[in-house]
Amino acid sequence: MKAIILAGGFGTRLRPLSCTRPKMLLPVANQPLIDWCLMNLSKSDVDTAILAVNYFAEALVRYLGTTKYDLGILYSREQRPMGTGGPLKKAKEMLNLNEPFIVMNGDIITDFDIKRLVDYHKEKKGLATLAIIEVPDPGRFGSVERDSESHITRFVEKPEPGKAPSNLINAGIYVLEPEVLNYIPNGGKVSIERQVFPILAKEGKLYGYEIHAQWIDVGVSEDYLRANALLLNRSDGVKAEKAKVNQTATLISPCNLAEGVEIGEDSIIGPNVAIAENVLVGKGCRIENSIIFPGATIGDYTNIKNAIIGENAILHRWVKIESGSLIGDYAEIEDGVTLTRGVTVCPSKTVGESVLDQHQVM
Ligand code: GDD
Ligand code: MG
Repeated sequence: MKAIILAGGFGTRLRPLSCTRPKMLLPVANQPLIDWCLMNLSKSDVDTAILAVNYFAEALVRYLGTTKYDLGILYSREQRPMGTGGPLKKAKEMLNLNEPFIVMNGDIITDFDIKRLVDYHKEKKGLATLAIIEVPDPGRFGSVERDSESHITRFVEKPEPGKAPSNLINAGIYVLEPEVLNYIPNGGKVSIERQVFPILAKEGKLYGYEIHAQWIDVGVSEDYLRANALLLNRSDGVKAEKAKVNQTATLISPCNLAEGVEIGEDSIIGPNVAIAENVLVGKGCRIENSIIFPGATIGDYTNIKNAIIGENAILHRWVKIESGSLIGDYAEIEDGVTLTRGVTVCPSKTVGESVLDQHQVM
């Protein structure tokens, strides 16, 4: 069986971290996001993953090559973004047209068993079966209405406040019959959620299979941190064998420090911290529930909590970064600055004064 992974496109609040890397190479628990998707697929009956890629295709090709986790990997390249439907039509020649295929959004972390979705699809005999999951906030997703036979009778992408048919949403994993490709016009940008699923729903050919599993779309900082914590908790405790950790420093489980990371005296790292290659952390620092990208420098006595620090960013001394804040690649934060409540600092920007406002972008 083949699977298409939608591995392009932006539309994410994590964009300040995407200037040097495609979104699918964002590290989660120090492993690119795409790896977690492939590992999950390799446990199902999928033998080939087709990556639908556009910007930054080369980085993915270089990283994955032609095979990983026993899966063959093919690349379907778009000249420009074709949405969530266009890439499926474009990859038609790479599919087996005598059997259903899987489609997976590339920005999802889940431990749900895809085989069960495939079995359910075969049992229901619709044209498409979506994994659906209950969430408290359907507004960010595609919300569905389902009848007692598991038909999806309505599909509303990004419903306005109060207008969602239910709290059940599209989990971004589907089984599609090749006939679904006939619903997608040729050559252009198509949203499968807005242009195809509502029609299939009306025709009674769309089914929903409710999953009860860990499931996170990493598209916003809070969820990205949650996914990181989830996967760190799944692996083994403290991983730091290739890091240089001062004897007086403390590592609290779970945390993962990559090769070339240095931690200075009396610093306390963890829980739920992933620090990528060659990050230098000074003395007396406190880092908790955070993700730090390669090459960042963290000055003495700096505190990082619930935050994401981009590649090669520099945080000087006595800096405090908190609550979902996101520091873009190559940004510089000067001595004594405090940034809280989801502040986003754009790539390469220097910040010399504290910002305590909610969700400010600078
Ligand atoms: N190749 C390619 N080309 N991939 C794309 C493009 C494109 O033009 N646009 C988006 N993608 C990929 C994204 O990289 C992501 O992996 C996936 O398609 C979904 O796009 P998002 O931008 O993350 O959409 P979303 O999270 O707002 O909504 C989607 O996912 C939700 C579940 O997480 C929808 O499918 C919702 O209905 C769903 O509930
Ligand atoms: Mg998404």
